[in-house]
Amino acid sequence: MKKKLYDLPKYYNIAFSWDNSNEIDLLQMIFEKYVPYEVKNILEPASGSGRFLMSFPKYKYHITGYDNNRRMVAYARKRISNAGLQDFAKVISGDMKSIKFKEKFDAAFNSINSIGYLLSDGEIISHFRNTGESIKKGGIYIIHLACAADKFEIYETENEGWVLEKDGIRVKTIWAIEKEDKQKKISYQFCKMTITENGKTFVLEDRHKLRLWFFEDLKNLIRESGKFRLEAIYNEKHNQIPLDMHINGELGNLYYVLKVK
Ligand SMILES: C[S@@+](CC[C@H](N)C(=O)[O-])C[C@H]1O[C@@H](n2cnc3c(N)ncnc32)[C@H](O)[C@@H]1O
Repeated sequence: MKKKLYDLPKYYNIAFSWDNSNEIDLLQMIFEKYVPYEVKNILEPASGSGRFLMSFPKYKYHITGYDNNRRMVAYARKRISNAGLQDFAKVISGDMKSIKFKEKFDAAFNSINSIGYLLSDGEIISHFRNTGESIKKGGIYIIHLACAADKFEIYETENEGWVLEKDGIRVKTIWAIEKEDKQKKISYQFCKMTITENGKTFVLEDRHKLRLWFFEDLKNLIRESGKFRLEAIYNEKHNQIPLDMHINGELGNLYYVLKVK
């Protein structure tokens, strides 16, 4: 059987192990600007191998992550315990489609279009409703995603991509958008990892079906959830993007700040 990327957290964790301190600086600035109280407790849906579960505690935040892949959850949990961060970070199994929390968080964050694994309007709306119920009034949910490009171009060359290395394991990753179905609002994406470990090289190829986002559509889903209003948008250079601007994929991944009503 073909191996799936998220079933191999060790390699995922190397491929995505770039420094996220700049991103955390932006998130902190957003917390301070948009939340009327001090943010101490963060929820991270689809927390994966624990990049943010490991980083936020360094800034004295408490963070709870969840993921629907049990291997990712087990891997992140082990990282947290190896680093002695159990008082600051925890991770549980859960699905963005349905999970609900009794606890109320100050803020939530969803990185690199993990929310895109929710494909239907119904799934997205119920995720917004449940997440909104899990955040204190005035708190925020920051979602990080790119909208569809105005001019779609297949991004696929053997030379593109990035290489990262950790513990003697080298991972070259290519992540390409192969096809966009604007009618069905689905983005077909392809990931190829070339992994070199103990002198042996193997290739992992995996296809991902993600929501194809359109700004108007995203705004409607936020509105229909009844829980949030879109408060602000930032780009990865920390610049604020006006809400009335034409938002497209050419602007790259953006941070949408959703405020609990
Ligand atoms: C691109 S990774 C991002 C992980 C992490 N947020 C990060 O920044 O490294 C996407 C994650 O979403 C998880 N995922 C996909 N669908 C999910 C769902 N319906 N509910 C919860 N997690 C999901 C995958 O298992 C994977 O760990």
